[in-house]
Amino acid sequence: MTCLRPPSNESLAVRRPLVIGNWKMHGDTAMLSSIAAIVRTAQSPRGPTVGLAVPHTLIAAAATVADGVLIGAQDVHEASSGAHTGDVSAEMVRAAGAGFTIVGHSERRARYEETDAVVGRKVLRAREASLDVLLCCGEPADVRAQGRTLAHVRDQLVETLATSVDPAFLAIAYEPCWAIGTGCSPTVEEIASVIDAIRSVVRERYGERGSDIPILYGGSVQPRLAPGLAAIASLDGVLVGAASLDPVAFRVVIQAFS
Ligand code: PGA
Repeated sequence: MTCLRPPSNESLAVRRPLVIGNWKMHGDTAMLSSIAAIVRTAQSPRGPTVGLAVPHTLIAAAATVADGVLIGAQDVHEASSGAHTGDVSAEMVRAAGAGFTIVGHSERRARYEETDAVVGRKVLRAREASLDVLLCCGEPADVRAQGRTLAHVRDQLVETLATSVDPAFLAIAYEPCWAIGTGCSPTVEEIASVIDAIRSVVRERYGERGSDIPILYGGSVQPRLAPGLAAIASLDGVLVGAASLDPVAFRVVIQAFS
């Protein structure tokens, strides 16, 4: 298998500052020049580990220019092959050069009816294909309004991580659905309390190994918010949507985590 994944010390699932961009359904080959700019920013020796989850169509090309930047997919199917028109498997994105995949993003949960059980099977499948996994969780607005954020996130993780996935290849992103693409975000205190709850869940699930899982925040991460987020001691980094499409804005976020 052709494997363009960066060397094993360049893993998503190691606790150190991480800044991951999620390009969603944006990007063509012209945007490979943005990756070159991001690579230059990411080469600072004191900088965070930087990754980009690009559209499936860009993985192979991105992996050839992403020197030192982790390239990943935004989703994979729960099966390794089969009659699933339009879907892409973990094995396929791995062969194309992805080193990780996002799984369980709220846009997929909401629009494609991905339950925690489906997300759990995707986590397992991604691991079987040797991809690191960035597992997303987070509450919708009505759950937050009812004061049930912590219980909701806990339930999502307990259900999703019921599969026997090795935590050494796992990172988790807390992304409140109501904060994604809206310009709204929780306070740093609110984020810190959810991060603590997630840490408790993974420690209950994996014992001391749960202490090594990186936990990120995502949802309207903008350059002006980055210093405040970087100051949350328990937070390992951020998952950045819209701002990752602008190399200048993304550079400011990366530098905040240096
Ligand atoms: P946003 O997206 O930064 O544009 O809110 C984040 C995400 O969906 O991962």
